[in-house]
Amino acid sequence: MTSANLLTDNPELYEARFPDPERLAARWTEDCLRRHGAGPRVLDLGCGTGRDAAALHRSGRTVTGADLSETMLAHARTRHPGPMYVRADLHGFDLGRDTFDAVVCLDSSLLYCHTNDQLDGFLASCRRALTPGGLLVAEMRNGAYFLGRTDLLDRPAVNEFVWQGTAYRSDTTLTVDRTAQLLRRTRVWTTDDGPPPVEQHSAWRLLLPQETRHFLAAHDFEVLELHDGPGPRTEPLWRQGELPGTATDGDRLHVVARLNTH
Ligand SMILES: C[S@@+](CC[C@H](N)C(=O)[O-])C[C@H]1O[C@@H](n2cnc3c(N)ncnc32)[C@H](O)[C@@H]1O
Repeated sequence: MTSANLLTDNPELYEARFPDPERLAARWTEDCLRRHGAGPRVLDLGCGTGRDAAALHRSGRTVTGADLSETMLAHARTRHPGPMYVRADLHGFDLGRDTFDAVVCLDSSLLYCHTNDQLDGFLASCRRALTPGGLLVAEMRNGAYFLGRTDLLDRPAVNEFVWQGTAYRSDTTLTVDRTAQLLRRTRVWTTDDGPPPVEQHSAWRLLLPQETRHFLAAHDFEVLELHDGPGPRTEPLWRQGELPGTATDGDRLHVVARLNTH
């Protein structure tokens, strides 16, 4: 049996598999927004279950959460109310001109832009949606981590957990597609309650730090921060008050960029 994306189809399972009880991702985002004086209107693009959008909303922001998945949006509206939730495609969206003071894109959502055209579409859409001086905040895998390192590629990663009385096991294999510059993931889910294994395929753009700078500059963004941590998914985790580093060597990449004002 295959599924496009078991976790996207099962938002509750996604939250169980990737718990963030202290809302670290949202707190880290809020810290970036404050440090650079962002206004209140925030678009969380690739908002998934809505938990970060809702946490930012509770911090006093006026948040719109956007995702391609209707299942995720339905979950977000009922489980994480507060923000407005809309369907939009990262590759090209139109939510009005000068509508937001910041666009945030967490947990590698931006890397669903696989091609250069999709990245251009994303940044052109952000530029239209942002007010001059508005911020783009992104947190994602770092493509540069895979240059000369194979530790994440050598063997399947096995994860086991129990959710609502069912034991889940996932076997995740990552491969590098050098031609497409993608990290491809195959994940096989097995449960102890009978159904056959589910195989899920996904891929992320292997975006490199210097090409990230190039794309941002080409779309009139000034890079304010580009670093590998500390962040909400780094080891060690970001702690409130910690300032960003300057290296881009680790497995996560954090970007804060400002749309030029001229
Ligand atoms: C890894 S989840 C991250 C969710 C959330 N930002 C978080 O940190 O928990 C990626 C999300 O991106 C969404 N997504 C994938 N492709 C997309 C696209 N082309 N446009 C908008 N959302 C997309 C998926 O539906 C999913 O909810």
